[in-house]
Amino acid sequence: MQTLREAIEDARGKRIAIGHFNISDSYQFKAVKEAAKKCGMPAVIGVSEGEREALGVREAVALVTAARAEGVELFLNADHTHTIDKIKEAIDAGFDSVIIDASHLPFEENVKLTREAVGYARACGRDVLVEGELGQIGTGSEVMDAPPADIDKNFTDPQQAALFARETGIDLIAPAVGNMHGVLRSGAQQKLDAKRVEEIAESTGLPVVLHGGSGSPDADFVAVAKAGAAEIHISTDLRVAFRKGVEQGLAQMPDEVAPYKYIAPGVAADQSLVERYIKLFAGLA
Ligand code: G3H
Ligand code: ZN
Repeated sequence: MQTLREAIEDARGKRIAIGHFNISDSYQFKAVKEAAKKCGMPAVIGVSEGEREALGVREAVALVTAARAEGVELFLNADHTHTIDKIKEAIDAGFDSVIIDASHLPFEENVKLTREAVGYARACGRDVLVEGELGQIGTGSEVMDAPPADIDKNFTDPQQAALFARETGIDLIAPAVGNMHGVLRSGAQQKLDAKRVEEIAESTGLPVVLHGGSGSPDADFVAVAKAGAAEIHISTDLRVAFRKGVEQGLAQMPDEVAPYKYIAPGVAADQSLVERYIKLFAGLA
């Protein structure tokens, strides 16, 4: 089975993207696993600091390891990690990649913290990918009435991204290119700047990671994948679909107390959504 680095390089060569899906429990994990299995495609399981706290760091590793032993090509990413201690914890536990999220800090401090994360990853004895972030795209995978005030209207500058990549030694870069964490209650979609993605991929020589995928038009996903986004993150859409599914399960089974029964519609909803995204990002939809 290929490594995450190989899977990303393969996707980039084909000008497609691997789906990164955030989960916070074993039900959502099952949905992503079954979707990846059915599509016969790789997928990245993402767990942010909060999601790791809910699921457990070692539990997340164990779930992915078990799926890989079954032949399902899943990888594990420590999403949005804010401290070096949490980076170390994830790397030591066996994660395939980590994101040091220091984009809210001044540029030099972002560089310093990111470089420290890269140093730890390089010394760990495994090939762990480190992703750095440059630009403001909000923080919450939630349904919002309006975009957060600090969203980057100017998007990430390709030349500054190149400097950031050189100074830190990162493997992947997460920029602001019109993307935003979360979705708007109005249903208004965000417009992704594929040209900017291409410029950043070229100036840095790195695969771009598109965060905040929920709430983007299908055509924009295909365009950014062609432009150099080799991994696309989806969380809010899965949270919303899971909740709706569980609500349906509870409504249909008012006396049911077995969680796996009333949660099943939530799992099914996430699975079909992940299948759709995996195919779309692979240019198969
Ligand atoms: O890291 C997680 C993502 O970037 C998800 O963003 O909730 O807008 O899909 P989203
Ligand atoms: Zn994100």
